[in-house]
Amino acid sequence: MEIVAAADSDERGLTLLRVVSQLQRVIVYLHSFACDRGHLWSTQSADARRTPIMSDEQICKKVKEICEELILSQENLKEVCDVLHEELNKGLGKDTNPEAPIKCFPTYVRELPNGKEKGRFLALDLGGTNFRVLLIQLGEECSMDSRIYAVPQPIMVGSGDGLFDHIADCLASFIKERDLGEELLPLGFTFSFPCKQEGLTKARLARWTKGFKCAGVEGRDVVELLKAAIARRGDVKIKICAVLNDTTGTLMSCAWKNHNCRIGLIVGTGTNACYMEKLEKVELWDGELDEPHQDDSHVEVKGVIINTEWGAFGDNGCLDFIRTEYDNNIDRESINPGRQLYEKMISGMYMGEIARQVIIRLVAEGLLFGGQSSEILEEKGSFFTKYISEIESDKDGDYNNCRVILEELGLNSATDTDCANVRHVCECVSRRAAYLAASGVAVLLNRIQEESVTVAVDGSVYRFHPHFHNLMTEQISQLIKPGMKFSLMLSEDGSGRGAALVAAVASRSSR
Ligand code: GLC
Repeated sequence: MEIVAAADSDERGLTLLRVVSQLQRVIVYLHSFACDRGHLWSTQSADARRTPIMSDEQICKKVKEICEELILSQENLKEVCDVLHEELNKGLGKDTNPEAPIKCFPTYVRELPNGKEKGRFLALDLGGTNFRVLLIQLGEECSMDSRIYAVPQPIMVGSGDGLFDHIADCLASFIKERDLGEELLPLGFTFSFPCKQEGLTKARLARWTKGFKCAGVEGRDVVELLKAAIARRGDVKIKICAVLNDTTGTLMSCAWKNHNCRIGLIVGTGTNACYMEKLEKVELWDGELDEPHQDDSHVEVKGVIINTEWGAFGDNGCLDFIRTEYDNNIDRESINPGRQLYEKMISGMYMGEIARQVIIRLVAEGLLFGGQSSEILEEKGSFFTKYISEIESDKDGDYNNCRVILEELGLNSATDTDCANVRHVCECVSRRAAYLAASGVAVLLNRIQEESVTVAVDGSVYRFHPHFHNLMTEQISQLIKPGMKFSLMLSEDGSGRGAALVAAVASRSSR
């Protein structure tokens, strides 16, 4: 009896299941019928309303299609290289420079370190979200003591005097804390913005980049502005021996021990590169033509380091063939529209926002999170660039970091498919950035034409993204002339040690 009853109830259960499943089919049919005719009330787009009848595979396929415009072909990248080569020539040419977006500023640094530099130096490092003061001891080894000071947003966009007073305040408190008041230490000032240098200690800001916009600084010598701020305080003495860009610092810092180093690259908040160019190719050069003083180690250098300021590549429209609607949006909403277009496709200040723009579009099309966005995700800047590195650090098929991040963004019910698609977006954005930066490096390597060159690299994107180094290395190999060798090397503390080395080399030359 019991068995029969059980069979009966099983039978009833099955019948019930069949009815439910029939009902589900009817609902899905009615739903798609209503969607097709736009009868469903919803704030989502027409595409979003169709989602429930799309399988996960269909969703992924659609996401891939939408992301395709972020994928650059080898032909695209070769073209980027050709155009960049031409644009660098324009920057270096006397007649073409005034109109050229890539300014190719000669740095007046003509000697690389030989590893024997010694002494104590101060360095100032301004160029990202923070400002640092460093005390560096160079010898067999290099030791460093440093302190980071925030640069509050109002100072970043306030008056020039406000900015330089803040720098002078930080420097003065560092000197007092370390009791360095009695010594007149040589100081290197790493100022990581486009500057037209007129000597090793004279640099006129051409224009602000990376979210800075302090009034009254463009066109002025930043060393003078710093000296004036220090004079206003009247309580510290300094001896500024060099002003340099972070790319130069990065190159110098690596060249200290690695004598093949000829290129300095930053992929951080901004992107830029410098390289050692032969003097005869630099029509803009107005300095000495003879060889710089060399000591017994004979570091063979017959040129000058050029700060390319390649972030401005594309500002004349020459990169429009690869720019997307997302790039246009980011540019339009930035503090410097129409400027630094290559930088806006590559660097940490913008990568997260590009990914957010793509994600928002996918949500609007009903392809992510069932078409439901969140308040935080809708906020500009809420998808940090570090999220890309964290999401891509998850092992294949594992979405731990991704889920934590989505929850931080108020997206609590993401499915595995959602996570896979968000990861795909991140990969497309970071791969494009890495390949574009690689194209730039390949162009410089092809210009330098030495058999084996080390590229010194720094910056948060390069440092923390799990695949950036490999992606760049792979792509550079595809784009350089056959037979050339290169390696990308993380350069430790270019802005500090590099600044000290430029100051050291400068004082060596002036002896
Ligand atoms: C921006 C600056 C440039 C700097 C780079 C990396 O592109 O204009 O001078 O080197 O960011 O910090």
